Amino acid sequence: SVLILDFGSQYTQLIARRVRELNIYCEIHPYNKIPSKLANFKAVILSGSPNSVRGENVLHPDLSEIRGKKPLLAVCYGAQYLAHFSEGKVAESNTREYGRANLSFIKNNEAFFKNISEGSQVWMSHSDTIKKLPENGVLLASTNDVENAAYKIKGENTYGIQFHPEVYHSKDGKQLLENFLVDIADVAQEWTPDSFVDSTVNAIKEKVGNDKVVLGLSGGVDSTVAAVLLHKAIGENLYCIFVNNGLLRKNEFESVLNQYEGMGLNVKGVDASERFLKKLEGITDPEGKRKAIGNTFIDVFDDEAHQIKDVKWLAQGTIYPDVIESVSVNGGPSATIKSHHNVGGLPDFMKLKIVEPLRMIFKDEVRRVGASMGIDKELLGRHPFPGPGLGIRILGDITSEKVRILQDVDAIFINGLKEDGLYDKVWQAGAMLLPVNSVGVMGDERTYEKVVALRAVESTDGMTADWVDLPYTFLQKTSNKIINQVKGVNRVVYDISSKPPATIEWE
Ligand code: XMP
Repeated sequence: SVLILDFGSQYTQLIARRVRELNIYCEIHPYNKIPSKLANFKAVILSGSPNSVRGENVLHPDLSEIRGKKPLLAVCYGAQYLAHFSEGKVAESNTREYGRANLSFIKNNEAFFKNISEGSQVWMSHSDTIKKLPENGVLLASTNDVENAAYKIKGENTYGIQFHPEVYHSKDGKQLLENFLVDIADVAQEWTPDSFVDSTVNAIKEKVGNDKVVLGLSGGVDSTVAAVLLHKAIGENLYCIFVNNGLLRKNEFESVLNQYEGMGLNVKGVDASERFLKKLEGITDPEGKRKAIGNTFIDVFDDEAHQIKDVKWLAQGTIYPDVIESVSVNGGPSATIKSHHNVGGLPDFMKLKIVEPLRMIFKDEVRRVGASMGIDKELLGRHPFPGPGLGIRILGDITSEKVRILQDVDAIFINGLKEDGLYDKVWQAGAMLLPVNSVGVMGDERTYEKVVALRAVESTDGMTADWVDLPYTFLQKTSNKIINQVKGVNRVVYDISSKPPATIEWE
């Protein structure tokens, strides 16, 4: 596998995803926590960084066990780092070095640039530049503005590049990574969904043995794929719990439960709608609602887990982006802060041992793994849906009547997207029930009813998002249907805010 040392670049996860696309397994570790077992890694990649090698906050790892001993690719900060500390020179650049550039010179017959021609577009993002190559450096490529865009070190398998091959705008970036990893470093391309399923099933068997495992299903992609993997490994010893918090989409509880049963999972559906609604009574503050929903879920789940005799493990659908330790820009790595449910001590199920079969893979890989195990395509392509569900889409206090209205509106919107072939073009969509009434007229009657807002966004990870330019004809049709069919709503608006500064959910 491949080791990626993270210096805090916003693109580090992209490097990992590009490497995985080549069917090569890789892991991201902070620059200052180099794994002690280096034998497992056949090559190393150094990421970029928001820091400068010239500044006070220079990130200075000990690479003595890596450099010259393993194939090494240094990207951006990494390339500057090698230059700066090995007799080269790095200075502030005086020309603009952000965005697109083209390689105007490539040294002939270099395996590193196999199948890449002069003129190839690369993506630059740096304010420092390499003025002088490190000791034994050989120039491999330049752009018009950046002379030392790529170099290698004579006598070592060490390469430095100023541009970012991991970014899609670097047109031959994947080819370059393949040249380095496959041709130069001789890493095998064996990491496929099937091989992941095989090795994970074996690992679960070994870890869990004949113990019982409990897992909370949500209807989402991650928990479903985790459940199917565990089921493959331990069969009936996997106990799944699917809780209806009363804030799911219309008919979702029944239909997803049926689907799970059809997949052969040992699943218990628990309808706790009333319990949740009661706990939510009168709460209007968004964080207050989240807490009430989260705590009630924990209570319900704990009650259910207690009914499984001798259960030893809690399975979770945690994926790699939740696990990667982040590097803060000011030097030391910062631990991810997790919120705790610590009112009256930990509930019992949280004291169980943890098994997380997806903790080393990305979301797109979770989908590929799911597909390779034969999970329904529609289930794998589902939009994300927040844990607190419609609870954070009903602004103000929550009542069963409001839930009914929003479920009906949401169903019309989502089914419409599916019917018009728009569902897969949208990353997430939903409706918000606003806590205001507006005046309308229906027939000869004046109405004074609720306003709903529709929201559809495109995004890759939910961190940033933009509203989707849905066809006017679709919006018109949907608005008509909602107002005609859903009693209690007389006005529909469409949310055209991006994130930031807005968020995807309204609460
Ligand atoms: P925001 O509203 O923060 O949402 O832009 C980003 C993504 O996170 C989801 N989301 C949540 N998911 N519990 C969850 O499990 C929550 O409390 C929560 N709040 C927001 C949201 O649906 C979007 O995909």
